[in-house]
Amino acid sequence: MREYEDHRPRDQGYRGNDYRRNNNYRDNRGGRGGNDRRSYGRDRGNFRGNNHRDHYEERIEAPQVVCEAKFAESGNEFAKLAPEIQQAIFEAGYETPTPIQAQSIPPLLERKDFFGSAQTGTGKTAAFTLPILHHLVSNRRPVERYRPRVLILAPTRELCTQIGDQIEKYGKYCGIWHVCVYGGVSKGPQTSAFRQGVDVCVATPGRLIDLLDEERFTLDNVDAFVLDEADRMLDMGFIPDIERITKLLPQERWNLFFSATLSGNILNLANRFVTDPVRVTIEPEKPTVDRINQKLMYVEKNRRNDLLLHVLKESTEDKVIVFCKTKAGAERVSELVDRDFPAVSIHGDKSQAQRDQAIRMFKANRVRVLVATDVAARGLDINNVGLVINYDLPQAGDAESYVHRIGRTARAGKEGDAFSFVSADDGDSLRQVEKYIRKKIDANVDHPFHSDFAEKEANRPSYGRGGGRGGYGNRYGGNRGYGGNNRGYGGRPQLRKYRESYAGSR
Ligand SMILES: Nc1ncnc2c1ncn2[C@@H]1O[C@H](COP(=O)(O)OP(=O)(O)OP(=O)(O)O)[C@@H](O)[C@H]1O
Ligand SMILES: [Mg+2]
Repeated sequence: MREYEDHRPRDQGYRGNDYRRNNNYRDNRGGRGGNDRRSYGRDRGNFRGNNHRDHYEERIEAPQVVCEAKFAESGNEFAKLAPEIQQAIFEAGYETPTPIQAQSIPPLLERKDFFGSAQTGTGKTAAFTLPILHHLVSNRRPVERYRPRVLILAPTRELCTQIGDQIEKYGKYCGIWHVCVYGGVSKGPQTSAFRQGVDVCVATPGRLIDLLDEERFTLDNVDAFVLDEADRMLDMGFIPDIERITKLLPQERWNLFFSATLSGNILNLANRFVTDPVRVTIEPEKPTVDRINQKLMYVEKNRRNDLLLHVLKESTEDKVIVFCKTKAGAERVSELVDRDFPAVSIHGDKSQAQRDQAIRMFKANRVRVLVATDVAARGLDINNVGLVINYDLPQAGDAESYVHRIGRTARAGKEGDAFSFVSADDGDSLRQVEKYIRKKIDANVDHPFHSDFAEKEANRPSYGRGGGRGGYGNRYGGNRGYGGNNRGYGGRPQLRKYRESYAGSR
């Protein structure tokens, strides 16, 4: 776990190493957990004999590294960033900015409010992280206890950690402190980080609000506010939380909204939070990158398991993600696949430790298949995922999820396949997906489980069948409260879907 780490190179005389280790503890001290403000006092002398105050002072005074401006000659947008950041980008192996980075860095260096949209895997995280780091470095201030300067919100815990890792990577020479705040883990290290002082807070809304309610920190010093996956953050599941949080932010602030799918109504909604924003959309006519080889596979519902095993057998990819609609479905499919190919699952019914372990094993190639719900659909940047399979299509009304799911492959210039299983009753979903991505997806009928019936039914025009979202809107309340122990039985089918989609993302 890397919730809270020091980014200063050790050879610069920083001695905070012990503290870092201490900060990773999981509140195993017994007694009251981290919920009582009085625990601050107790914590103080408790870090293996280290005095908290010393660390606080050390944090302010740690020396900075002198870096070269590696891109000065190149003339590209990276050259406009502080040398510390250029050095880190250079070490990350980046040579040129991606289109969204090239178009976002100049306005963001002027602190313009910004809506950025570009296809999946095209470096949106760096597009907002780099200018923010630049501002932090060029307006350096001692880190303040309880008062972060930057707030980044993301819909899932894994995405928070990933953004935190990127801040660490790009900010390794900047002397910037960050904390990742999300549910499913102890609050102790998170509150401890605020007490020590952080520049950047990356959070999911649920846990953030919990800590705000407990007065663990304040948002009154935040001057940059980022919504990653902004359309998801502004949809029905999250919007009440976002409204609550923005009320606590200073009126005068810098707002940055990014997503691969940022359009239409969501932009109207987002306009409420920004002032005179610059809007950049890269290739609006192509919501998905051409490097993804998208295919439909028509199959009877009850033959999908056979088809899945067949596809996995035929494929030579070492990293495959399979998306299912429900948590129970993901678990079932993962157990099935695991009999023949090593597989793990990730969904809202898993503990955070299990989720972290699943991602770790998948990244390290210890399992070949990751079976997931939409909790893993957005933002996750896992190297070399060669194949994404939609065991279920995203439900009608959520065509954006298709774009995000298949975007787990073909990232950073690579190529990949995305196969979607389509059964007779998937017509509405399919039409919406094709409308959203502005193209027809070719079918692969060359497999032993092809169903002419499914093909015919799914492509039948939907006269009077309504289509669209159905009774409750597919994302109603998906984020909060629901779905703790839904086993997939009972309840109205539509409602069950909302419970499942983002449960466990607090
Ligand atoms: N300028 C660059 N040159 C090379 N690689 C880059 C560059 N910028 C980012 N990358 C790499 O591209 C990958 C994808 O980046 P990132 O996760 O930010 O994509 P994204 O646009 O946020 O995608 P998504 O919409 O799925 O969230 C990362 O592995 C990152 O290291
Ligand atoms: Mg992203």
